[in-house]
Amino acid sequence: MEIVNNSLFTIILAAGKGTRMCSSLPKVLHSIGGRPMIHYVLETAVALQTEQIALVVNHSQESVIKEAQQTFSKIIPVIQEEQLGTAHAVLSARTFIENFKGIVLVLFGDTPLIRHQTLGEVIDRFSSPSKPAVVVVGMQLDDPKAYGRIVTSKDNQVDAIVEHKEADENIRKIKLCNAGVMALDGVHAIKLLEKILPQESNQEYYLTDVVRVARAEGLKAEVVVAQDPSEFEGVNTRKDLAESETKMQERWRNKALEQGVTMISPETVYLSYDTKIASDVIIHPFVNLGPNTIIEQDVIIRSFSDIEDTHIKNGCTIGPFARLRPGTVLEENVKIGNFVEVKNSTLGAKTKVNHLSYIGDAVVGEKTNIGAGTITCNYDGFSKWQTEIGDGVSIGANTSLVAPLKIGNQAYIGAGSTITKNIAPQSLAVARAQVKEIEKGAISLRNKKSTLTYEKDLG
Ligand code: UD1
Ligand code: MG
Repeated sequence: MEIVNNSLFTIILAAGKGTRMCSSLPKVLHSIGGRPMIHYVLETAVALQTEQIALVVNHSQESVIKEAQQTFSKIIPVIQEEQLGTAHAVLSARTFIENFKGIVLVLFGDTPLIRHQTLGEVIDRFSSPSKPAVVVVGMQLDDPKAYGRIVTSKDNQVDAIVEHKEADENIRKIKLCNAGVMALDGVHAIKLLEKILPQESNQEYYLTDVVRVARAEGLKAEVVVAQDPSEFEGVNTRKDLAESETKMQERWRNKALEQGVTMISPETVYLSYDTKIASDVIIHPFVNLGPNTIIEQDVIIRSFSDIEDTHIKNGCTIGPFARLRPGTVLEENVKIGNFVEVKNSTLGAKTKVNHLSYIGDAVVGEKTNIGAGTITCNYDGFSKWQTEIGDGVSIGANTSLVAPLKIGNQAYIGAGSTITKNIAPQSLAVARAQVKEIEKGAISLRNKKSTLTYEKDLG
């Protein structure tokens, strides 16, 4: 394979078993902000304009490759047959970096919070006059937990990275930790990696040892200290997953707030990786916006609404307690009220569905009013059917619209109707039992009831 010199080749490691997730799903396929976490690190690599991405997985993770190809179709899948450590994992991609003279960047698949801007500094370091062979990202931590410690020399070179397990008391006092990002000059990469020996304790080949090897060869190793260490927090447990979700949500909310969205209680609003919200939208507390949601200007979303794969155009009002499901399009100034569910339907401008309704597989025109308790009966137990409702239609409360069905413009459906046939424009349709009124009937009924009760009491 021919690779352009002085460019970037990214290797993403994801072959670890992720045992601590206690899951049958590969760790990097667990979701953050509505999509598998592997996409975040891939996007970071793509934003750095990497030439190639090799994704290292184990033999049972074909699903990870498939998922990753959705973000970066030209991904190079690499199988690490045995998990013999991070250096061994990088060397599984050996054939692809052998003749590569650019920068080899190693990232972990389970660190979704890294910003590409932060890695830009790592890449830039290779153009500095010091010409390092290795650049690592360090983070100053008050509590270094079990991170590898970065041992630096007086001239700010990195002498070694010592894993927590192998560190003595003095080394453990070091607060500069290895964040896990490693960049190597491609000219030296393979030669250095091959010199790494397995650890005595567990026979693993540590990527971090590349620093020691480089220094022994008289090459330079440098550290870029991260401003925000939280970017490098990895996901190893479900608790970590929840914490990364929280941090990601915070980022998205802050961005939305900066761009002119009002959130009365931002920490209760959940967004997705691709949520688009225009300015002057007001979101009340406890709203969940799933993937592929677009909200245009001046929309108000009231509490406890759950919305996904929906396009809400200017000036709509949603909720409280609304559920907008995939395929919903609301044209301008639509009103969706409480306990209304809409699925795979388009509602025309100024149409109102204010209370307790289900609109599924429907196309509704403009300025139509759908009364409380209206149900589109779209499913007959075998197939889904469409309901078409025109402009300026009035659908009375508690109406069942049995699809397939067409209701013409300006038609009027009486409350309580079950409509099973098409209704022409401007027709009035009522389909319910006649009311029978018996004069003074209430009195005779009450008399009869009380006699019965009396007889029962005696009996
Ligand atoms: C690693 C670093 C440590 C650093 C920490 C930061 C090493 C030896 N240590 O430790 O200095 O402070 O990250 O989070 O690199 N993987 C494979 N194949 C393997 C082993 C691991 O693909 O054989 C992958 C894992 O899926 C994971 C990544 O490599 O994505 C890191 O492995 P992990 O075991 O989590 O390393 P740490 O012990 O966290
Ligand atoms: Mg880890």
